[in-house]
Amino acid sequence: MRNIRTARAHRFCAFALACTLLWPILARAQESNPEIPPAQAVLAHNGMVVAQEARAARIGADILQKGGNAVDAAVAVGFAMAVTYPRAGNIGGGGFMLIHLANGDDSSIDYRETAPARINAKSFLDAQGNADPQKSRDSALAIGVPGTVAGLALAEERYGSGHFTLAELMAPAIAMARDGITFGDDRAEALPNERLRLARWPATRKIFFKSDGSPLSPGDRFVQSDLADTLEVIAREGPVGFYEGTIADEIAAAVQAAGGVMTAEDLHDYRAIERKPVRGTYRGYDIVSMPPPSSGGVELIEMLNILEGYELATADPAEELHLLVEAMKRAYADRTLFLGDPDKVQNPVERLTSKDYAALWRATINLARATPAGAIRAGGQAQDEGRNTTHFSVVDHFGNAVANTYTLNFSYGVGLVAEGTGVLLNNELDDFAAKPESPNAYGLLGAEANEPAPGKRPLSSMTPTIVLKDGKPFLITGSPGGSRIITTVLQIVVDVIDRGMDIASAVSAPRIHNQWMPDQVYAEPGLAPELIDALQARGDTVVPTRPFTSANSIMITPKGIIGAADPRTRGGLAAGQ
Ligand code: DON
Repeated sequence: MRNIRTARAHRFCAFALACTLLWPILARAQESNPEIPPAQAVLAHNGMVVAQEARAARIGADILQKGGNAVDAAVAVGFAMAVTYPRAGNIGGGGFMLIHLANGDDSSIDYRETAPARINAKSFLDAQGNADPQKSRDSALAIGVPGTVAGLALAEERYGSGHFTLAELMAPAIAMARDGITFGDDRAEALPNERLRLARWPATRKIFFKSDGSPLSPGDRFVQSDLADTLEVIAREGPVGFYEGTIADEIAAAVQAAGGVMTAEDLHDYRAIERKPVRGTYRGYDIVSMPPPSSGGVELIEMLNILEGYELATADPAEELHLLVEAMKRAYADRTLFLGDPDKVQNPVERLTSKDYAALWRATINLARATPAGAIRAGGQAQDEGRNTTHFSVVDHFGNAVANTYTLNFSYGVGLVAEGTGVLLNNELDDFAAKPESPNAYGLLGAEANEPAPGKRPLSSMTPTIVLKDGKPFLITGSPGGSRIITTVLQIVVDVIDRGMDIASAVSAPRIHNQWMPDQVYAEPGLAPELIDALQARGDTVVPTRPFTSANSIMITPKGIIGAADPRTRGGLAAGQ
């Protein structure tokens, strides 16, 4: 299939003027991009849910159709994806929900996992005092106290329409877990890669593997009876049914039996926290995003503030890309040093998101040369991410909007299902900086601000974001992708606001990424070779990367609500109302 922008080019080329105006947009991508097909734009007028899994998106759209608001729909999608998209959808992990209300208020629910009380700064070190990735990624020590159940319930209690009980919103998830669903492409694609990690645990094998020991494959029936029972308890009793009593005891017992330190008391003590979103402005738009313990919103606003000082709309595409990379390097260096759980450490959010601070960074940017990362601050190594987190965007016809990103960290988390509960557990504590000079799985470094401590939340990159135009939702976006989440959201915002792209084109445009350390620019397939050459000519090292983010986004236009599921992942859907 031809790239959307190529097709557009042919249509418009009769008009010389239009071609002149469009060339910077067209020039970013190659003529065709077999690895990232064009996203399909879906138009609706009464509401929209865009998610990485179609059944869950339809469930959300159905809630909207029944008169629910965006939060009701988001809560239903969140529980549904715990069943239909177990590699990232979850009740055993955590995440962030950003909410814009029709009355103009914004809020966010932080339901990030916390470190159990017995985790400390040495928990993820070996006997020599070096960071031990096996402990922080592959052992039960890595499991944070899950936040999703508390987070979704809190969102519903405070911002749901009141027309639905939690049980009603959870009913579709319970039915799918109980009756089973057909195991689909995207899940089946991931499972063989995770086979060894999952097969370590008998309780996990029972659910994700067949009796001959092979993992479930496309078309197989996928039944999760224990998970259905757990969801029923939550539906009946509320979050207390998960954080106290039998289920909490079973989770703590399973974690401890696997060598972890989580106790029933850690679960009992868990709280989702409502936080004031972080806010910025960009060329007259308001940017509303997730505050710490996610670094996403702070970094996004910092990068946009830096970029606002340049005329990107008319910039040569090579120069635009150079400026994006330079802004990325600087914001990621700041992330490393300054950010962590705001309930445990001071985060200089105001300074990092101020226009004055951005001006200081701008003064260090050379238009003709890449700044070596070492000239900004010190280093580490990056690894590949999978599609292990998931983002969905929702708007309703009342004017409310929700951007939700949640995760188990790795695909299927640590791979351990707590026996008897059906709950797949995360390995989120690898997002702490086990030691300052030791990168996490996404190559991110950290400092004391993000060192492990009891009850602390590891710093995240998840960036659920709502852009407002004249105070009303204009763009709802976010993505999985580990460290690449923030730069993905940055490029969606810049492509829409500066480049004037429609949302489907912005979602499927090839993206780049730089995270300061390692000192490399990652380029997705389809980026025009002359742009890669131009980055290299300025001194950047460009390395190819697989496309694996999934920015399921919505844009509100005079024509209506337009949703675009990211084509990088199979099985996503924009479900309109
Ligand atoms: O919170 C974070 O930043 C990471 N645990 C997110 C992991 C992720 O996005 C992996 N998926 N691709």
